[in-house]
Amino acid sequence: MTSTYRAWTLVKRAEGLPSSDLFELRDFESVPLADGEVRVRNEWLTVGPAMRVRMAAETRGYLPPYGLGDPIPGWAVGEVIESRSADFKPGDRAMHQFGMRDYGQGPASAFEKLPASGASEHYLNAMGSTGFVAYYGLFEIAKAKAGETLFVSAAAGAVGSTAVQIGKAIGLRIVGSAGGSAKGERLKEIGAEAVIDYKTPGSLEEKLAAAAPQGIDIYLDNVGGEHLDAALASANPNARFAISGMIGSYNQERASDTMHHLNRIVTQRITIQGYLPYADRADLLDAFREQMSAWIANGTVRPWQEIRDRLESVPQAIEDLFTGGFSGKPLIRLNPEGARP
Ligand SMILES: NC(=O)c1ccc[n+]([C@@H]2O[C@H](COP(=O)([O-])OP(=O)(O)OC[C@H]3O[C@@H](n4cnc5c(N)ncnc54)[C@H](OP(=O)(O)O)[C@@H]3O)[C@@H](O)[C@H]2O)c1
Repeated sequence: MTSTYRAWTLVKRAEGLPSSDLFELRDFESVPLADGEVRVRNEWLTVGPAMRVRMAAETRGYLPPYGLGDPIPGWAVGEVIESRSADFKPGDRAMHQFGMRDYGQGPASAFEKLPASGASEHYLNAMGSTGFVAYYGLFEIAKAKAGETLFVSAAAGAVGSTAVQIGKAIGLRIVGSAGGSAKGERLKEIGAEAVIDYKTPGSLEEKLAAAAPQGIDIYLDNVGGEHLDAALASANPNARFAISGMIGSYNQERASDTMHHLNRIVTQRITIQGYLPYADRADLLDAFREQMSAWIANGTVRPWQEIRDRLESVPQAIEDLFTGGFSGKPLIRLNPEGARP
């Protein structure tokens, strides 16, 4: 057993963009495993926008704020190195939420066993909650049908880039929004028919109307605010809006967006639904994973990811989520020399 483990802690509450001085990497004493527990050496971590919500003193999310000075939780995959559970043995691979640290320990029920071979980091991306959000939003919320037009915001992000590739596979016409021409070019390569650069001057509403003159039938919202308002303005009758999140407002104490087109919800008979599929519909995970692993195997979905190395890179990775510093899913490889394929 290692005598200590290193974990990122939150030492100050966030206001605005989460900067590196909010975090400290601290040593914690490892305690012996209790009956039924396992210990994992983490190999891959990830960061996501919802972490910002939990850095506030009062959360507006569905999970509580992080405790100051406590190890920050987060998704991770790694190798079981010790087990006092019949469900795991050393050498098994597992996914869990004892991330943002080099070793994770907890009850076996909090760990999911992963296949022994293959790219386990995909479980932090297309095979995990990221992919599930894209899949569930398109199929269960929006009931997407071939030939319809899908608008995706933060389309070059983790959820967005997966949704674009699934959408292309099922015959949707896709308009994606992203910041910068490089991301736009790559979005076209993976299936977007038109791309909006929301960071260039001009009205988003006009940019979307020009990119989708036929209107939109489905909006997968990762951003909220002006993107949501533009989507309302372009919505066709009976459009479905799957609201996965609203990263555009996570750094604001109170969202200050002015919405001009809310009345379109009525006139266009728009259905708008927020959703948390990992929390609410875990019963669909197996079916989702079967489909996603087939898509990955046949090249329909190529998990879009950007890798940074070592535990030390966590704070910058969190900040970069909100400044467009990543393309696709941020992955942090803890042990680049010894990483498994
Ligand atoms: N419902 C659920 O269960 C669930 C699960 C996971 C994630 N989510 C939500 O899904 C959304 C996407 O999550 P993700 O993990 O895939 O993250 P992500 O899209 O990879 O997030 C980072 C990207 O968001 C874009 N962005 C950041 N701030 C923005 C702003 N103010 N306006 C427009 N775009 C902005 C940036 O792309 P650009 O370079 O293009 O600006 C950035 O690269 C988030 O809202 C998240 O909270 C929901």
